[in-house]
Amino acid sequence: SSGQTEKKYVLAIDQGTTSTRAVVFDHAGKIVASGQREHQQIFPQAGWVEHDPLEILRNTREVIGLALADADVNRHSLAAVGITNQRETTVVWDRHTGKPVHRAIVWQDTRTQDICNSLAAEGGMQRYLRRTGLPLATYFAGPKIRWILDNVDGARERAEAGDLLFGTTDSWLIWNLTDGVHVTDVTNASRTLLMDIETLQWDQEIVEEMGVPASMLPEIRSSSEVYGKGRSDSLLIDTPITGILGDQQAATFGQACFAPGQGKNTYGTGNFMLMNTGEDILFSDNGLLTTVAYQLGEQKPAYALEGSIAVTGSLVQWLRDSLQVISSAPEVETKAKRVPDNGGVYIVPAFSGLFAPHWRPDARGVIAGLTRFADQNHICRAALESVAYQSAEVVEAMNTDSATELTELKVDGGMVVNETLMQFQADILGVDVVRPSVTETTALGAAYAAGLAVGFWSSMEELTANWIEESRWSPQLDQDERDRRMRRWKKAVSCTFDWLD
Ligand code: G3P
Repeated sequence: SSGQTEKKYVLAIDQGTTSTRAVVFDHAGKIVASGQREHQQIFPQAGWVEHDPLEILRNTREVIGLALADADVNRHSLAAVGITNQRETTVVWDRHTGKPVHRAIVWQDTRTQDICNSLAAEGGMQRYLRRTGLPLATYFAGPKIRWILDNVDGARERAEAGDLLFGTTDSWLIWNLTDGVHVTDVTNASRTLLMDIETLQWDQEIVEEMGVPASMLPEIRSSSEVYGKGRSDSLLIDTPITGILGDQQAATFGQACFAPGQGKNTYGTGNFMLMNTGEDILFSDNGLLTTVAYQLGEQKPAYALEGSIAVTGSLVQWLRDSLQVISSAPEVETKAKRVPDNGGVYIVPAFSGLFAPHWRPDARGVIAGLTRFADQNHICRAALESVAYQSAEVVEAMNTDSATELTELKVDGGMVVNETLMQFQADILGVDVVRPSVTETTALGAAYAAGLAVGFWSSMEELTANWIEESRWSPQLDQDERDRRMRRWKKAVSCTFDWLD
């Protein structure tokens, strides 16, 4: 045949905390094919979490091959490639050899507490809040870079000589998939504690105070533009890479939350609720982060308020792997359904302190309200409920900070197949919970950003039209009961504070 192969698809690469996926989407936003590989979670000591960047790179190459094979197409059918990623997780590598100088330090890792404390000695934990949107916390990338430079032999000298590069996993992958293009996007950069949230440039003063040589940092670009093309020796040869979004921002985009006031809650290993605030940079008085939602090419950026919860789905894994009260994750629902309520039991999974809205690194988990009546079904129910209670606290903060009341909650992520949880979430919030037909919104959002840059999709309206409601749960609990349970939850939360003194 004479003509070129039709560019029918967009490929999204989703480099997540536990696995890497590649998903082929068609123009209707439907999944055509996908591939997935898990990578190792490395826990060298309490509070530390690492990934092997080379394993993640190998997996990425593999899942690209799997997804293309599954779709029975090659790169000629791809209009563009989008990348989305676990945010904050930090890689430092040598620009000449491509070798990481240390394993990736994962977002959940708390080893940088001392670095954060010493930076807070002047100006407190809120020191950079107005400039970056973020409190000083171990969660973010900047202190993790500092830790690597302070602790890996020779790293600081090599960095100062210009030999080392930093990136979150979006940058790490793009540098490797292209011929060394070193970029990130505004959403990922907004999680480093190093970017000025208003100018969308590295804040030179903070970069210096953090002790990070500026030559290590990637160029900050919009979320939707041409960054580079696939390497000539790769499956994606010559294919334009045109979208980057941090995974939670990608899910917000994939949920078509384009107007101020629209938001979503993603139920994964942790929960992340983002609400689009449009062009307004709102600072929270209630423990929410200010973050960039997206920026399309030359257009003005959209901002968001975010409530980040560290432990939700991973609590279910803990019940399975460490307590062994269930043998598979879905069993948590089976057992929870055997009892009409939690029997008075509350679990607060403050495994690495509490993130939003409390930001208490000193908190540790509790199981409260135990009586001789409580059994494993109540424990399972309390575990599921903890996901909803933590999200309800974030919604309270959102309502206060944005001075509007949430009217319904759009949800996505792995745990939203759990009907018991979704019903309880509606009950405890007092608003409807709504699930779309495509719950792979993270990959979809990255595909959208990439597709918009090359005209595969032409407008946000087109994307909004792809969003289809599939299920809805309405509250069935009366207000008094809701308030009473929420009060108990908050008492349980207060038991977690001050464990590390
Ligand atoms: O901020 C951390 C978040 O981006 C991780 O998301 O889905 O990889 O657990 P996930």
